[in-house]
Amino acid sequence: MSEHLSFPKEKIKILLFEGIHESAVDSFQAQGYTEVERLTTALSGDELTAALDGVYMVGVRSRTHLTREVLEAANRLMAVGCFCIGTNQVDLRAAAERGIPVFNAPHSNTRSVAELVIAEMVMLLRGLGDKNTAAHQGRWLKSAKGAYELRGKTLGIVGYGHIGSQVSILAEAMGMRVLYVDVLPKLPMGNAVQLDSLEDLLAQSDFVSLHVPQDPATVNLIDAARLGQMRAGSYLINASRGTVVDVDALADSLRQGHLAGAAIDVFPREPASLEQPFESPLQGLSNVILTPHIGGSTQEAQRNIGREVASKLTAYSDQGGSVGAVNFPELSLAPHQDAHRLLHIHRNQPGVLAAINRALAATEVNILGQHLQTTPEIGYVVTDVDRACADLREELASLPGTLRFRVLY
Ligand code: NAI
Repeated sequence: MSEHLSFPKEKIKILLFEGIHESAVDSFQAQGYTEVERLTTALSGDELTAALDGVYMVGVRSRTHLTREVLEAANRLMAVGCFCIGTNQVDLRAAAERGIPVFNAPHSNTRSVAELVIAEMVMLLRGLGDKNTAAHQGRWLKSAKGAYELRGKTLGIVGYGHIGSQVSILAEAMGMRVLYVDVLPKLPMGNAVQLDSLEDLLAQSDFVSLHVPQDPATVNLIDAARLGQMRAGSYLINASRGTVVDVDALADSLRQGHLAGAAIDVFPREPASLEQPFESPLQGLSNVILTPHIGGSTQEAQRNIGREVASKLTAYSDQGGSVGAVNFPELSLAPHQDAHRLLHIHRNQPGVLAAINRALAATEVNILGQHLQTTPEIGYVVTDVDRACADLREELASLPGTLRFRVLY
């Protein structure tokens, strides 16, 4: 693959911060990138700027802040990988303005969340949280009262995306009947049934599990009125985002005995660090499982994140493919066999594509393929041509609006 790059892959310096999983290093090396340094810590300020000198691709988690100043000083930086879900530790706009795509791993922990939901349903139906606490305290709550099997119960899934559909498959394997709602028509897994209304789902379900994104439409999606529409004695599970449930209303519903229990992994206000205390109106209520936003926190998820982000970075470096970039036009590109690939990143302003093609026409290269994708700010044109056109490089790199120009051959 190294012949596809304008210089050998082993010269592409990659720096990974914050103990990113070894799977990332393995993935880079498998693709021929050997110049990979992995640090266990985060850096900041001048130390971070110095460390990024000569680095082409950087991997961060949540504690390394790639600010505008840091990005501007990173003289070789070509792409950023956030080996996590969130990307707000990176100034995405500043990165885009320098033609630097930022990638993350939004779905590597899908299965981990789905498994937690299944475990929680069993725990809630058997009162395991409370029985465990009692046993630790020396009390022996041996009783079948209020304890049930999962088999035959109805699960209502709100949001049938990556996680919701995985929960659906696992729940059916446990013998459950699965209903779901989504804002889009979604292909059912197994025998699951999509309903038209959330109200119907709430009225029919023994468990309601939330798997929607955080957006204005999902804030307090489950409020006092919706909790009232849930079946008496049913259970609520939220491992999506804390804003989706009105936790005060949930606490009321649990106290009044309308809901029989809940498992909540995400909260409207979560401690920013391990040292800060955690407070919630749900504390102290019976049959309520509270977990510290660990739905996606498993070793497998960390390993998958390492692989997923490393593969997005190498796809971008090797082919120019930018699928999964959060701040940059997304292009899915096949390998450029027997072609030279010109990658032109520019401000999204009129006339750049025409100017690129005028320059290409003047040299009489044969264009084998061309792809354009834009965001409101950035344009990304990838052109495959049949021969090297070294004479063109300077011209294309200096067209008005150009942010970055790269050739793969
Ligand atoms: P996804 O984007 O694959 O699926 C979300 C689904 O919700 C989509 O099918 C979408 O059409 C649907 N949807 C959007 N608005 C809706 C609405 N108002 N009503 C009904 N459906 C709606 O997302 P994914 O990966 O399944 O994640 C789901 C949630 O889980 C997200 O909020 C994510 O942040 C959270 N999450 C939590 C983790 C944890 O540690 N607890 C870990 C990973 C994700």
